[in-house]
Amino acid sequence: MAVPRTAPILVASNRGPVSYTLGEDGSLTARRGGGGLVSGLSAIGPDAGAVWVCAALGEGDREAARRAGASHLNPGDTGGQQVRMLDIAPDVFAAAYNGVANSVLWFVHHLLYQTPVEPVFDAEFAEQWAAYESYNAAFADALAQEAVDDAVVLVQDYHLALVPAMLRERRPDLRIGHFSHTPWAPPDYYRLLPDDVAAAVLRGILGGDRAAFLTERWATAFADCCAAVLGAEIVRAGDGEGGGGVATAVRFEGRETRLGVHGLGADADFLRERSRRPDVDERLSALRAQIGPGRKSIVRVDRTELSKNIVRGLLAYRRLLETRPEWRERVVHVAFAYPSRQDLAVYRDYTERVRRIADEINDEYGTDGWTPVALHVKDDFARSLAAYRLADVALVNPIRDGMNLVAKEVPVVSERGCALVLSREAGAYAELGEDALVVNPYDVEGTARALHEALRMSDGERADRTKRLAAAATALPPQAWFLAQLRAL
Ligand code: G6P
Repeated sequence: MAVPRTAPILVASNRGPVSYTLGEDGSLTARRGGGGLVSGLSAIGPDAGAVWVCAALGEGDREAARRAGASHLNPGDTGGQQVRMLDIAPDVFAAAYNGVANSVLWFVHHLLYQTPVEPVFDAEFAEQWAAYESYNAAFADALAQEAVDDAVVLVQDYHLALVPAMLRERRPDLRIGHFSHTPWAPPDYYRLLPDDVAAAVLRGILGGDRAAFLTERWATAFADCCAAVLGAEIVRAGDGEGGGGVATAVRFEGRETRLGVHGLGADADFLRERSRRPDVDERLSALRAQIGPGRKSIVRVDRTELSKNIVRGLLAYRRLLETRPEWRERVVHVAFAYPSRQDLAVYRDYTERVRRIADEINDEYGTDGWTPVALHVKDDFARSLAAYRLADVALVNPIRDGMNLVAKEVPVVSERGCALVLSREAGAYAELGEDALVVNPYDVEGTARALHEALRMSDGERADRTKRLAAAATALPPQAWFLAQLRAL
């Protein structure tokens, strides 16, 4: 059945705003998707008239997609948002999502290939790459079907790098933007991809009118990769006037793709309202009881993800207890590490290491009345908000991160002010660096010192810094972030 071309604005991303679980009785339960991309895009709201095209991620999603057929999901499940979920064949999806996007592209952009996780580009990868191409083509087909003449299409992230060029071929009338929610790798690292793959990803994104990023740093790295891999020309601010400023566009094969930077911020209104609801109050009491009276808390909230550097965070906390015994019994590290991408062995192994080290610390230092690490692995948004409210210190120490919204959400929700220990390799550092305690994520010793400084920061200073952090963190809330991209196209 042909889908009528009705959409003036389209958004495409692998993960959509909802995910379904299928009950034994055939019933479907919808749940909000996790991660920064969904947090940002969910603020579009139904009134924008946008259609969101995403992939079915599991059995429940596939069933929901099948029931919807060529039409959109039940708006009751999506907060009124028009969502088309693509029922991509499970083997194609697994190869594209697990094989190419999350094992290879994610690892390259986050510089995660370090012994013992080494890149493998063999026959299996070649097959996965073919699947990635057909998965991207499925999105391009669906978008081409739904878009009205001259519609605007916003393609999201590394899963869909080939879509802009594929869509331009099918529908030259559209205005197409791509947005990367990840960092972008520097050229020397990016070039560990097979040459044809490295070129195809760049050509794919350059097929759009605009390529946008969370920070200047990632946009520059993208432009540098285009120059190094494709021999493309970088247009810079002030060019022609002897300039040489930041990269503003990439010229390649007679076309120009503009570069943009939109630093997604926290949604203050939503967070303040949501974090004051009874379910959050309830979890706040439970967490307080778990921490114990008079103790401070160091909070972290992450997907259990190698780039988040959870293990080094725990090692830094262990080092703190070792070198500053005055903190023993007086602090609890509340670590939320929510399982992510568990189909991949390296993620499962990482999750295991996180558990093991937390247990070790508790065995080494724990006493009858004190458990030094409170590790929670069951995803619970209300409990994350409760932890934001009570945190004395927030630890955000990724090896590399496109932005990191946790760093931006904590200062907004915090009740008494919260000291932020922040990796200089998170995109959020560009906006929050001045009022955070900044760490090199590999430096466990330095991170332990920063935790100590954060714990002993005076109440007044913590409150002042938090106020400034919250202002910087909310400079570009999700709705404005989305509109800025639309306008720029
Ligand atoms: C990052 C990516 C998003 C992704 C999210 C959650 O933020 O940039 O595209 O949706 O992680 O990961 P998942 O694999 O669960 O969608």
